[in-house]
Amino acid sequence: MQKIVIAIDGYSGCGKSSTAKAVANKLGYTYIDSGAMYRAATLFFLNQGVDLTNKEELIRQIQNLQISFKKNPHTGKQETYLNGINVEEPIRSMEVSSFVSEVSKIKEVREELVSRQQLMGEQKGVVMDGRDIGTVVFPYAELKVFMTADLEIRAKRRQKELQDKGQKVTLEDIIRNLSERDEIDSNRKESPLYRASDAIEIDTSFLEFEEQVNQVVDLAKEKIGHYNKTI
Ligand code: DC
Repeated sequence: MQKIVIAIDGYSGCGKSSTAKAVANKLGYTYIDSGAMYRAATLFFLNQGVDLTNKEELIRQIQNLQISFKKNPHTGKQETYLNGINVEEPIRSMEVSSFVSEVSKIKEVREELVSRQQLMGEQKGVVMDGRDIGTVVFPYAELKVFMTADLEIRAKRRQKELQDKGQKVTLEDIIRNLSERDEIDSNRKESPLYRASDAIEIDTSFLEFEEQVNQVVDLAKEKIGHYNKTI
């Protein structure tokens, strides 16, 4: 059975990553969190004190940026590594969240990360989530999903996630961060976030997690069946 590429895009905090992860698990596909790559790049630039306006330095530094994903043998969860160090926690901090959209506006950063993402998807059998996956990274993905959800519902979900990790952040701060990121992500010059014309929109505001996962899995099975009939 030939495998397909599944692209999941949408606003911040719609549950794209957790949905994509569960879908990949159910299908036996590889999950790739492209947002984690932009977050790891942001952490790297912050740690190195890179001047983001100095393009030459940026291009030089980005060559020293190595990002990989590994499964934690204890939890079974995929974690992000930056130059060999596990950065799964720090890349989710509010500090990184408030810088990441600025970093991901930069053309040179996008070019580098997009080409790495395309390499990762070459063999198909991947579920990748982000902002430009169905439009730029994999414009020929067999299945494209665009996820949306009400801003306040997204913020409450994100607050709970952070609380579960012991981080206390007010709902106002989260709403501000999510709407700022939506605004920058949707209006930037380089690969802005928008729904590809052939993407299927899923509003997750009132869906249980299992429901949103099953919707994507059903769509994927349909596409896989169709794809295998036509090749
Ligand atoms: O999916 P996330 O919230 O972890 O992504 C963090 C940021 O990275 C998001 O605000 C915008 C950026 N991003 C992007 O520009 N393109 C992607 N494909 C994925 C994320």
